Amino acid sequence: MSMELVEQIPTLRARVATWRRADQRVALVPTMGNLHPGHLALVREAQRLADRVVVSIFVNPLQFGPSEDFGAYPRTLEQDRALLEAAGTHLLFAPPVAAVYPRGQAGQTRVEVPGISDILCGASRPGHFVGVATVVCKLFNMVQPDLAIFGEKDFQQLLVIRLMTQDLSLPVTIQGLATVREPDGLAMSSRNGYLTREERARAPALYQTLLRAGERLRAGVAIAEVERLAAEEIAAAGLGPDYCSVRRAGDLAPAGSEDRELVVLVAARLGRARLIDNLGVRR
Ligand code: PAF
Repeated sequence: MSMELVEQIPTLRARVATWRRADQRVALVPTMGNLHPGHLALVREAQRLADRVVVSIFVNPLQFGPSEDFGAYPRTLEQDRALLEAAGTHLLFAPPVAAVYPRGQAGQTRVEVPGISDILCGASRPGHFVGVATVVCKLFNMVQPDLAIFGEKDFQQLLVIRLMTQDLSLPVTIQGLATVREPDGLAMSSRNGYLTREERARAPALYQTLLRAGERLRAGVAIAEVERLAAEEIAAAGLGPDYCSVRRAGDLAPAGSEDRELVVLVAARLGRARLIDNLGVRR
């Protein structure tokens, strides 16, 4: 069976409608392309959970700030297409910007999940999560999947999407999948491609810092001290820390000494790249 590449919404709807009439479960894996093994793990999970797998590739201009890397973001459609076909994807939806934002971006109706969209990555990237929630909501309406799968590397994004889906009563099950890592621990990300050889050698410091933060939390070290040491270690490795924060895993509220289910989240600059990672900790 060969994978179909679809660019327009009416064709997409017609294909998915055929599957629905046959009572088949449809999974969506939303991506921005430049696929790596982390994305392919999402596709495999989608295959396990559904009869039909749709992968979307859309570099969403609405989620990039004016000084961010929208223009430079790697676009590798032919390579991605071959990977998805080999992985057994049924349909690749790769719409042009005009199909997603036919009236342009400025007047586009937006979806905002308040509060959680303004902290951590949302504080450093104003408007980012509105762009993400808006495009994911639109993709859900275009594809109408039974379920959608997202990587836990973007932990805050996953929570924003879960809340958006719940708040708007969208009939889509949101499934998170564990971060896929390089052998040295670096979380897989399309933005790792921005790193020079020398920066790439330093990048695993982010995950090493998370592991040490996890050990300290389990050993009873105070949260403020864990955060301070994490920022210090990231800076000592030559990365520019943006934030190092211990939060409640369920809602990303600041964690208190009584909280047991935690997540440590870090973001740091390294050359042209802004890298993020996180680690769940139970104590
Ligand atoms: O995680 C991503 O690749 C993007 O933020 C997403 C979810 C595909 C929305 O554009």
